Amino acid sequence: MDRIRIRGGNELNGTIPISGAKNATLPLMIASLLTDDTLTLENVPHLADVEGLTRILGNHGVDFSVTGKRLRQEAGLGRTIHFNARNIVDTTAPYELVSKMRASFWVIGPLLARMHQAKVSLPGGCAIGTRPVDIFIDGLRALGAEIDIEAGYAVASAKGGLVGGRYKMPKVSVGATHVLMMAATLAKGETVLENAAREPEIIDLANCLTAMGAKIDGAGTSTIRIDGVAALSGARHRVLPDRIETGTYAMAVAMTGGDVTLTGTHADLLPAAARAISEAGAILTPVENGIRVQRNGGGINAVDVTTDPYPGFPTDLQAQFMALMTKSNGIATITETIFENRFMHVQELARLGAKISLSGQVARVEGVKALKGAPVMATDLRASVSLVIAGLVAEGDTLVNRVYHLDRGFERLEEKLGRCGAEIERISG
Ligand code: EPZ
Repeated sequence: MDRIRIRGGNELNGTIPISGAKNATLPLMIASLLTDDTLTLENVPHLADVEGLTRILGNHGVDFSVTGKRLRQEAGLGRTIHFNARNIVDTTAPYELVSKMRASFWVIGPLLARMHQAKVSLPGGCAIGTRPVDIFIDGLRALGAEIDIEAGYAVASAKGGLVGGRYKMPKVSVGATHVLMMAATLAKGETVLENAAREPEIIDLANCLTAMGAKIDGAGTSTIRIDGVAALSGARHRVLPDRIETGTYAMAVAMTGGDVTLTGTHADLLPAAARAISEAGAILTPVENGIRVQRNGGGINAVDVTTDPYPGFPTDLQAQFMALMTKSNGIATITETIFENRFMHVQELARLGAKISLSGQVARVEGVKALKGAPVMATDLRASVSLVIAGLVAEGDTLVNRVYHLDRGFERLEEKLGRCGAEIERISG
């Protein structure tokens, strides 16, 4: 299994290109199931999760082709991928595939909408929490679907097709908002989704669906109205920049010091995190096609954050911010409200010398003068990258195990950091 070795202590200086957002790419790929025309996605990041979902869609009969694969990849540019779901050959998403990637459960919406049936394995729990799917099931029932849970599968049908309905989500869910919005595009009549997620990825999906001919109003607010249409067409859509990758590298620079321009992104995508990073002592300046990140010359200030649905502080940046706070000049309180088990990095950061105490969903992080390198590992993507950030300032070598987590969501991580002066290498085997 590959590992990443980091020798801490170097400032970061240079340019980091920000990739297309993983969490926009996945629902956009799934939207290809809604039409028998070709959906072309540009700026698709080269990530293990994208490859995994390509295989899952292939199982349903989706053909795909990649334009200019090698050249674009070598130049560090996102790929353009064409998806065509003219012949859906299978409406079952089996356990073996769904258990590998949670977001593949989301095919249930488009399959029901277009094929009027779907049998999709329940995804089960995962490292960061129990992650139930009750909101998806109730929401699809509100659109007229009949759904039974049988032997670990959601077996769904909508004879004659889905019909528009009104559904208020009991809790803000990004995935359920994606799925219900996609399903409603082909339902008969109007659907109103209340308490919807407002993440930029929801707006990106709505923009793509609109380009495909869907009628959607209010994406990005908590009430989304969708007027169903008889069929959707193909479209060409560019995936928006990854705000989590943006925030992660901004925090890395806040940690190490230096001067880095993050290109192809903008700070409007992460209002709460940008505020917290600035309060911690970094200067974020909008520049043409990106954000310049510098340390303000002083130390790192302790800043309290609480995760919340967008526009709040993202749970997907909580671990990275905690890494930053391990070197603050005070005590920071970090509260996780989205997932009940998203503090798996705490023990690992402690191995590097961090002082963190946990009480339920609240972590108290007392800044220390120095971290010291050690072997570490993490059980999820964002926790893993928090260890990389800590490793960038730890004295000596930090060896991050289970790199496959990083490969799920960070494109060419070691190359991007290495080009800015970090001493970082992948050790194969
Ligand atoms: C998306 O997951 C992201 N994944 C996650 O990114 C992210 O952490 C999360 O949103 C929150 O921002 C993708 O976009 C592919 P939710 P999702 O449904 O949609 C509860 C990463 O590292 N809930 O918004 O699965 C749920 O348990 C990741 O890239 C129910 O109770 O998250 C959680 O507490 C991991 N019932 C809360 O809602 C349901 O039916 C929010 O989850 C659905 C969700």
